[in-house]
Amino acid sequence: MTEQPQRLTIRRPDDWHLHIRTGAMLRAVLPLSARQLGRAIIMPNLVPPVTTTEKAMAYRAEIQEALGSDARFQPLMTAYMTDGTDPDDIERGFRDGVLTAVKLYPQNATTNSAAGVSDITKVYPVLERMQAIGMPLLMHGEVTDKTVDVFDREAVFVELVLRPLLDRFPTLKIVMEHITTEEGVAIVRQHGPSGRLAATITAHHLMINRSDIFAGGIRPHLYCLPIAKREKHRLALRRAATSGEPWFFLGTDSAPHPIGAKETACGCAGIFTAATAIELYAQVFDQEGALDKLEAFASLNGPRFYGLEPNPDTITLERSGQTVRDVLDVDGSAAVLPFLSGERLDWRMAGE
Ligand code: DOR
Ligand code: ZN
Repeated sequence: MTEQPQRLTIRRPDDWHLHIRTGAMLRAVLPLSARQLGRAIIMPNLVPPVTTTEKAMAYRAEIQEALGSDARFQPLMTAYMTDGTDPDDIERGFRDGVLTAVKLYPQNATTNSAAGVSDITKVYPVLERMQAIGMPLLMHGEVTDKTVDVFDREAVFVELVLRPLLDRFPTLKIVMEHITTEEGVAIVRQHGPSGRLAATITAHHLMINRSDIFAGGIRPHLYCLPIAKREKHRLALRRAATSGEPWFFLGTDSAPHPIGAKETACGCAGIFTAATAIELYAQVFDQEGALDKLEAFASLNGPRFYGLEPNPDTITLERSGQTVRDVLDVDGSAAVLPFLSGERLDWRMAGE
């Protein structure tokens, strides 16, 4: 039997899907991601949403102020697409290096998506422009039709929205965000090799299935969107993430909500994984005997899709383990509960 590695050094990872919010919440959660990551795609679903280049510049300035002057972490900004998005504004933001991508939320699909796109045909002119200039489209891949079962919304989206979009926009670069199903895995495998479709996979969707949400009682901290699916889908995601295939990469979808907004009669969707993001993925890759594929997934495949260089520096993970921290304070009071709080993880980042 080969000996288990005790240390693992990889290029510094990036997070290609991250919610850091604004104000006091931003100042509390951002340092946890910044110490691990080189870059992150910053989600624009604030209240009100970050819909224009100008708003993205203001949000980026707020993030940079919270980081302080010597921070190495780089926020990659996105604009929130609405029915009224102006193609000229998006193009200007992309060319000026303010915007990296545009995020499409189908209207009312998830947290703060009321201003999202009501009908995809309305944004065809924007998609034409993005295709022409090589700007990626990031999609929340769920249909919002209430007659479609919540566990089927991604698979139906793949057939009713994504396939027709791939036909209509043959060279538009699309990231299907936080895939949760074997149908999602399959379409990404089909179109990944042509370089126009990729997917992010969260740590929590690699670790929990839909039964975990109801294990011993209802567990609001495991509720997120897209909701966790059956075990067979979790296993398909684990195979995809650990395959080394370049069209799958790290995107935590870490989404902090105040505990009171989670533990209530109608709790918000979102799982907060930023505190131990890379360690959660390391645990999964280790369990799958695929630690040698972690660097590709976490640090190489994302930049390759986005046409960027990998980060120049490295991080080292150690098998010394850690207990996931307790609640995070925001403005001096207990506020956000990390995923797996109080539980043991096998890995920790060296130098912490
Ligand atoms: O669980 C989720 N939380 N899914 C999303 O799509 C949005 C996110 C949030 O912003 O809280
Ligand atoms: Zn998200």
